[in-house]
Amino acid sequence: MTEPRRNLALDLVRVTEAAAMAAARHQGRGDKEAVDRAAVDAMRNILPTVEMDGIVVIGEGEKDAAPMLGNGERVGSGDPPQMDVAVDPVDGTRLTAEGGPGALAVMALATRGSMLAPGRLVYMDKIAVGEPARGQIDLDAPIPHNLRQVARALDKDVADLTAIILDRPRNQPHIDAVRAAGARIRLIRDGDISAAIATAVPDSGIDILLGIGGSPEAVTAACALQCIGGEMQTRLWARDDSEREYAAAAGLDLHGVIGMRGLVDSEDVFFAATGVTSGELLDGVRYTADGAETHTVVMRSYTGTVRFIRATHRFDRLGKITDAYDPPR
Ligand code: FBP
Repeated sequence: MTEPRRNLALDLVRVTEAAAMAAARHQGRGDKEAVDRAAVDAMRNILPTVEMDGIVVIGEGEKDAAPMLGNGERVGSGDPPQMDVAVDPVDGTRLTAEGGPGALAVMALATRGSMLAPGRLVYMDKIAVGEPARGQIDLDAPIPHNLRQVARALDKDVADLTAIILDRPRNQPHIDAVRAAGARIRLIRDGDISAAIATAVPDSGIDILLGIGGSPEAVTAACALQCIGGEMQTRLWARDDSEREYAAAAGLDLHGVIGMRGLVDSEDVFFAATGVTSGELLDGVRYTADGAETHTVVMRSYTGTVRFIRATHRFDRLGKITDAYDPPR
């Protein structure tokens, strides 16, 4: 038996709620940068109140020079514990800007030195499943084999499985393989953190994630799966020769499978995500006469506790500390 320890994930909720409320103001306004900037600014506003000495290991912007919390940036109050930080102020900036479903504001923490830093290699091939199929997947094996394994673990037929895949030309081979095996497909435009988590949520209707998506999103999703139970395997994926040369110079292996421990090697992982726009996992932000309502999932690996938090916020009172939630002009 050990003493109960502080649950930093509950502090993260305020950060992801703030990012979601600021970003959702821009829903459907067509400005992706504004979505990201609002979320980053709101996160920056609350982060100093989180009692930790955090270093951003998984920031964003490497891919598209978006406004970002940069890798190596120190965040938190500066007091112990020392933590690695993954932030995705909005996973689904384009979705939010276009008024699409399933965008999340996300943050994860793990003990210092435990998160993989994929550097300039912004994509990974991924396979992820929930707890019942943990130990049954193998990224090196053909997709039909993985589908059969997952079907067996879930006591279903392959035809009853649903694979969630990012809709990109680079994922056409994955789509063809799932079709040939006879399983169902859910194609998504964006947001594969939410998709990975969905594989581990029993009633989501999603059984397996396949395909090439963002590396930062892979590490962040692995934090969630470490908490909620499940498994993800990944392989770094280079877009072109310059990335292959970079990988060789940086000593990054483009062939080996990186599993859960390679993505985040910590017993104490915290994860929080707040819905920006409504999706399968969480409802998005709703503005009310005097504030907003948010929906957040927050988890911790040490205890395995998963909380869904519905919160109401009063802008007349929050206005004393920030104008981040005011409508854009
Ligand atoms: P952002 O909203 O942070 O840009 O990410 C959205 C996303 O769909 C991720 O969920 C996914 O991992 C990545 O982009 C895929 O990258 P790309 O859009 O370049 O194919």
